Amino acid sequence: MTAITLAARLRRIKPSPSTSAADRAQALQRSGRSIVNLVAGEPDFDTPAHIRAAALQAIAAGATRYTPIAGSAQLREAIAEKLLRENALTYDAREIIVTNGAKSAIYCAFAATLGPGDEVLIPAPFWVSYPDMVLACDALPVVLPCPEDQGFKLTAQQLEAAITPRTRWLLLNSPSNPTGACYTAGEYRALAQVLARHPQVMVMTDDIYEHIQFTDAPGVHLLAAAPQLRARTLAINGVSKSYAMTGWRIGYAAGPLALIQAMETLQSQTSGNACSVSQAAAVAALRGDQSFVRESAAIYRQRRDLMLAGLRQIPGLGCRAPDGAFYLFVHCAGLIGKRTPQGKVLADDMDLVLHLLDSEGVAVVAGSAYGLSPYFRLSIATSAQVLQEALTRIARAVEKLR
Ligand SMILES: Cc1ncc(COP(=O)(O)O)c(C=O)c1O
Repeated sequence: MTAITLAARLRRIKPSPSTSAADRAQALQRSGRSIVNLVAGEPDFDTPAHIRAAALQAIAAGATRYTPIAGSAQLREAIAEKLLRENALTYDAREIIVTNGAKSAIYCAFAATLGPGDEVLIPAPFWVSYPDMVLACDALPVVLPCPEDQGFKLTAQQLEAAITPRTRWLLLNSPSNPTGACYTAGEYRALAQVLARHPQVMVMTDDIYEHIQFTDAPGVHLLAAAPQLRARTLAINGVSKSYAMTGWRIGYAAGPLALIQAMETLQSQTSGNACSVSQAAAVAALRGDQSFVRESAAIYRQRRDLMLAGLRQIPGLGCRAPDGAFYLFVHCAGLIGKRTPQGKVLADDMDLVLHLLDSEGVAVVAGSAYGLSPYFRLSIATSAQVLQEALTRIARAVEKLR
């Protein structure tokens, strides 16, 4: 028998827990169970018609070959225009790299900068992939718990206490997946004051949910609040969530030229350029009519309100209103320790998630996957009808507990 020897880094990482939960729900669905799937981290809308049309036009025009590794000149220009128009940030197109989704931008930046013993500060709850990406680059994720009573956000004191001479990155994700928490300009300035004392720390902002915000005042970018951090900040973004383009795989990073060039070298020897047709579609997304962005955010907001009102009626559950993104991070301490009709005591949020799935076919992801328990995350990127059905089923599943 041929033995396959895996690299040590593969023993450190695991498949994405949200993908595993989605697979489990789909397998049950295939076996004939009625499943209400609230796992997906992607918009339920179609990509807007004008963006799809631009892709078809690009194919017809022969835009089917390699592009420059860092992305087509047109797309890098369109991203620079977007950063100026929406975030008041000035970037030259050379300070921007287009990647295969935002995920690849984050990994590429880590792979270009991290080595054994380096530390990356990750406020928890966090997007599931951050720690594993750091581990895959042989470095250490340093998880900083940010409980609900501090709005799920990192404080300046926590940051100061966590920085060591080995700290290479601080990762900030606003609006956050899974909590929807958004940093204010004042909170960013407080963090920037700490960072001023630690010039070796770079900052990665994951801005992928920036257009899905429910606050009346527009969201602020870290660099708008603390422009002095520009020389050591990498802003990650993409078209996946804002334009319902998760399958097109276009992300990007804007940052200091030396870092962008290093990422380009790495990308040139690994994935190569992002899909040429998708790049043409992304130009249309960024330069075209933006009404989809506004309209979809308004719909997510209605769904959030519907779901919050319903969840707050269910004994044992609680939920802080998210300011953005399309998830609710539901507190479920009131149900831990209860017993299912089969006699199983719910020891943690994973047990509750399994009870919701087994008893009522509701698929959600345990808070432990995001580094904070006891919670579960549900996605509101689905119709109001499905959300209403989910509420009915969750209430029934909770009623069965003793
Ligand atoms: C916080 C966060 N960052 C990045 C990504 C990845 O985005 P993309 O699909 O563009 O790779 C996701 C996707 O779920 C996310 O939730």
